[in-house]
Amino acid sequence: MTSSKFYSSDNLANIHTPLLHNFWYVAGLSTEFKGEMRERTILEKSLVMYRKKDGAPVILQNRCAHRSFPLDQSVLDDEGIRCRYHGIKYNHDGEIIDVPCQTKCPSQRIRKYPTKEIGPMVWIWMGDPDKADEKDIPELPVHDKNIWTHVVSEYNYMEGNYILVQENLCDLSHLPFLHVDTFKTPPAYTNTPIEIEVDGDEVKFYRSMHDWSTLSAFFHPGIDLSGKKFTYKSGGHYMTPATNKGYAEITVEDKGGAPICHYVSHYVTPEYQNSCHYFWFVARNYELDDVEYSQKFGKLVQTGFDEDLVAIRMMQKMLENDKHDFKEMSVKADQPGLHMRKIIKRLADEEAQNT
Ligand code: FES
Ligand SMILES: [Fe+2]
Repeated sequence: MTSSKFYSSDNLANIHTPLLHNFWYVAGLSTEFKGEMRERTILEKSLVMYRKKDGAPVILQNRCAHRSFPLDQSVLDDEGIRCRYHGIKYNHDGEIIDVPCQTKCPSQRIRKYPTKEIGPMVWIWMGDPDKADEKDIPELPVHDKNIWTHVVSEYNYMEGNYILVQENLCDLSHLPFLHVDTFKTPPAYTNTPIEIEVDGDEVKFYRSMHDWSTLSAFFHPGIDLSGKKFTYKSGGHYMTPATNKGYAEITVEDKGGAPICHYVSHYVTPEYQNSCHYFWFVARNYELDDVEYSQKFGKLVQTGFDEDLVAIRMMQKMLENDKHDFKEMSVKADQPGLHMRKIIKRLADEEAQNT
């Protein structure tokens, strides 16, 4: 068991830790931004999201400055949104440009949020506007379509606090158990030590198995490694409260060269304290043109992540409702997640001090 002062309940984030604002979060998939408006709540703020005619995504406060009517239930045209309640009109920057029955517009406005569309995702900055810097957006691990092929998730809704999701993503020990029927990670995986590297506010962790012979369901059934020795490395990288990057790779030892690899990027965006939005994005560097495999693989990954979704919903419910005396216990394999929780708790304390 892991029990040192390094990890105490006082310095670990939990489901009650205040949400963090000064980070880039994924607001939605590019495909969700259309000519029609949609509502999404992020960090307890109701937002209206849409795409302008020129193609730019827009995210505004979804609350009319007059009497709080939801703007996503109003009327969008090329100039902006006209509130359906009393007809006040806002432009795409959130400024009031027309008030029925008066010539002068109030200087009041609704908030417009910085956004950045990169690949299949649209990012949002919910924090202090002066601190928004696009250079802080976590990089997608892969772009080059000559080397990588991509599968992008649909939208996922998680009925649990985002710390539970991030801890799940830092947790290599649940793979052979919770995902026993999907990812088919060999049980021997559990006994391999986890390597951890903490780098500033980021945590890298992996298991590396040499002389391995069993492939998990993550890999193309057409890969023939029978009779060959290979190293199987699987791990993750907690990057920010919004981002975690997992990977699984095979290196054939007598061949050298680049590993056969999957990257699974995860994006977690808190909705309220007890719920979050979740998106994933997978890239692989082999069998690039096998569209049928991409579809099958996408379904497999979603089925596996649905198992996480159900587990997180059940744990959130237990944490909220069960009245047993309870003191959380941790074991050695939890260390990547404990590092992440320690970092997030410190960031939350710092954000609270600076606001
Ligand atoms: S509530 Fe929107 S115009 Fe009155
Ligand atoms: Fe999982």
